[in-house]
Amino acid sequence: MEEKIKVAFFDAKEYDIKSFTEANDDDLYNYKIKYFDTKLSLDTVELAHGCKVVCVFVNDMINKEVIDALVEQGVELIALRCAGYNNVDVEYAYGKIHVVRVPAYSPYAVAEHAMALLLTSVRRIHKAYIRTKDFNFSLNGLTGFDLHGKTVGVVGTGKIGRIFIDICKGFGMNVIAYDKFPIPDSGINYVSLEGIWENSDVISFHCPLTDETKHVVNQGSIDMMKKGVVLINTSRGALIDSEALLEGIKNRKIGAACLDVYEEESDVFFHDFSGHIVDDDVLARLISMPNVILTSHQAFLTKEALSNIASTTLKNIKDYFNETSFENELCYKCGKIENCKQEHKKKCF
Ligand code: NAI
Repeated sequence: MEEKIKVAFFDAKEYDIKSFTEANDDDLYNYKIKYFDTKLSLDTVELAHGCKVVCVFVNDMINKEVIDALVEQGVELIALRCAGYNNVDVEYAYGKIHVVRVPAYSPYAVAEHAMALLLTSVRRIHKAYIRTKDFNFSLNGLTGFDLHGKTVGVVGTGKIGRIFIDICKGFGMNVIAYDKFPIPDSGINYVSLEGIWENSDVISFHCPLTDETKHVVNQGSIDMMKKGVVLINTSRGALIDSEALLEGIKNRKIGAACLDVYEEESDVFFHDFSGHIVDDDVLARLISMPNVILTSHQAFLTKEALSNIASTTLKNIKDYFNETSFENELCYKCGKIENCKQEHKKKCF
């Protein structure tokens, strides 16, 4: 019998194991998946021994050293089970190890979560929930504001950003947007980044984390924003300089922050720290604010998205070994990382 291809699956959670087991229980794939709850790092890379594939998520840091160690172990493929790839040194990986991702699994999941956070924040649902659980039916301090007629600035008008725009239009909001690569004839009202900062009552981020977008929310941009602005970040934590955000909240410039991601999330998110002392003072202070809502990188977490992640990841692995079109490969060489020309046996090298 042909030996099964082994996959070392890092940062595995209960819901990952469930969705991947379901998707893998199929004549199509049937890989031998070894699940590890630890993240992939230089300290844990040996767990991949004997595996041709590692499957990783947003907080597995795949830098040069980890890539070298993976190659040394005989690993051929890094299969990201997420869309963002800022945690992988794709440039260094070129020519050494192939990298593939799941470009889209449910943009609705993330866009709907962004709106859920916004509504929770502006209608104080998080406060009301706790009060009524304790039979406190007072409304004092729960005054919100209508979204209808307010201006929302959307940064990044890709798959998620466009769905979020449609949702906001449904609420009767006035939508302005910024994208480095605006979509022609889309009917989207594009403005400059300064235009976003100066005119928005609510700003939502749906662009990738790059050198250019890192700390796009900083002291300078916050100074330009309207007093009382609500910031939503379901994209990547480092888009926002957390200390500047905290300062903006303390000095009452920022009206509320809805965060699904946090700059330094990799050591805390996805783990239960209740009963422990969290060392991150900025995070602790942000969480203590009544106008900050934080979910721990949860926006993607719907049944539909998990099922799509599992089936696309397994198909990506199959495409790699079958030498069929390897469409989700991330390739540094072709100019646009997400658009490999697949010139070598339908792969980038
Ligand atoms: P996408 O690739 O469809 O859209 C990204 C958009 O950002 C594109 O229109 C692109 O032109 C634009 N962009 C690129 N550089 C920019 C810049 N410097 N300034 C402004 N815009 C820029 O990606 P998609 O699927 O809409 O995802 C957006 C982001 O959401 C991902 O990069 C990822 O970080 C995040 N995400 C978060 C999840 C969560 O669970 N919280 C789940 C999935 C994605």
